[in-house]
Amino acid sequence: MGIIGKDLMPQTHINVTWFPAALLMALATLSGCGRVEWNDDLEYPDRTSSIVVLDKPPDQAPPGFPLPGRPAVVPEWLTARGVTLLNPASMSEKPWSDNWKNALHEELISHFATPGKPRLGAPDAPALTVLANELGLTESKLAEGARLYRRLCVQCHGMSGDGVGASSAWLSPAPRDLRTGDFKFISTAEHKLPSGFQPLKARPRHEDLVRSLRSGLEGTSMPSFALLGDESLEAIAAYVLHLSIRGELEFTVMNGALRQDRETLQLVTKSPEQEELIRYKRLLSTTLEWEDPEADVDDFVAKQSSPSIKAYAEKYIDRVLREYIAANKNPLPVPAYPYPENQPVPATSLTAGHTLFKAQCVNCHADYGRQSDLRFDIWGSVVRPANLTQSQYKGGRRPVDLYYRIARGIPPCAMPKANLGDTDPGRAGWDLVNFLQALPHPDQLPSDVRDQVYGPSRIKLGANP
Ligand code: HEC
Ligand code: HEC
Repeated sequence: MGIIGKDLMPQTHINVTWFPAALLMALATLSGCGRVEWNDDLEYPDRTSSIVVLDKPPDQAPPGFPLPGRPAVVPEWLTARGVTLLNPASMSEKPWSDNWKNALHEELISHFATPGKPRLGAPDAPALTVLANELGLTESKLAEGARLYRRLCVQCHGMSGDGVGASSAWLSPAPRDLRTGDFKFISTAEHKLPSGFQPLKARPRHEDLVRSLRSGLEGTSMPSFALLGDESLEAIAAYVLHLSIRGELEFTVMNGALRQDRETLQLVTKSPEQEELIRYKRLLSTTLEWEDPEADVDDFVAKQSSPSIKAYAEKYIDRVLREYIAANKNPLPVPAYPYPENQPVPATSLTAGHTLFKAQCVNCHADYGRQSDLRFDIWGSVVRPANLTQSQYKGGRRPVDLYYRIARGIPPCAMPKANLGDTDPGRAGWDLVNFLQALPHPDQLPSDVRDQVYGPSRIKLGANP
């Protein structure tokens, strides 16, 4: 090393020390991985974003995806299509609904506590804690899940799971609002609760959540967290349920207080002074399990001096926890693959799959998804029925993942489950899977199917589509 080198040494030394430190600090700030912990007393923010009431998506398509920097849900697009948006702030306008708002806040704190010290089940509701533990939502697991969520998820999904973390407005599709209890990629068989009632929503199995975390959602910004290992993924999945159940209760009570459906409005117009009781009874009867809604709801109401959000919250959480437990026990049965394994797929299977596809799927996946019209999903955000000539699947690319999508549908996007007929539904399901897997690869399709999908003029045979 010459004189020049010697002269430069001190400076080089400083650079070498500071550069990585500065880089680490910048990275920590950018990715939110600083050692900043949330204070135990910090509360989840109450919902202020609109309640989108979309029991059924509107007929008219959205005009496009929201522009970058805009929120995922564009209120004007929805109201122009007759969708009702309810504003949580208007709960403060009437004394009774202001009481509900405060009572709801109390219940959310007592059952879910805070992001720094989450739990599921209030100390005075031990039966809920027992159910939560059965589901694996123990306090220690939730604490670990919350810690990881803060580091890895909050920038997209937000502290309360509202889907509007700091980077969300620049991502398309937008990060999920986890607060409605709806999930897309599920493998749960349709089933009933032991009481005989249907679940309120199509619930995912625990494994479905872990799969989404482990593999990420291909083609979206949601990355794979496979490096974390199983125990951490389990903890995060538990925390996702904590956020989701909390958000679902909040959504449901606010919706009950503000809903504008015809039947509620008729009753309220007839006896406006009874509004609170009318809405409370409707909330109970539409979400809880009653053999005889009228009689049982009256009985429940009679046991309290006035409508009690506390009593309702306990019942609701109890039901939702039991639904998740039941979902875990009810995987969708996957029929055996009906063709010889490790051999090329028979052309008859591809042709049969193509026929089913033309009959049931092209109305949404137009031109095999290349020209799909945009749609609204249950959250009021915009979704495009997948372009199935591209081999890209959010919910996983294993044949069994495709089977689940077909046999269960994607409920929050109103994608129905396929009608696989009575003769041999197992075979029909696998025919569709085989067809979907071959669809992006023209050379794998029988020539008549290939002509219909790609047409001689669309591509030169043998070239990539
Ligand atoms: C860079 C942004 C980003 C990060 C970081 C991220 N997600 Fe997501 N997440 C998304 C997007 C986008 C979607 C929705 C994709 C869609 O529906 O098209 C999503 C969807 C989900 C879903 C819904 C799956 C389903 O079946 O419907 C869950 C659950 C979820 N994310 C949990 C997490 C958790 C937990 C973490 C942290 C470990 C995380 N995400 C980190 C962007 C992100
Ligand atoms: C009512 C409209 C509708 C119908 C009918 C429909 N789909 Fe879909 N499908 C969608 C939408 C919307 C998505 C996009 C979901 C997303 O990106 O979040 C989708 C996505 C998919 C995906 C991609 C899943 C993934 O993991 O990314 C597959 C595969 C699929 N559909 C297959 C089918 C098949 C096969 C049929 C017919 C049996 C069908 N769909 C019928 C609306 C529909």
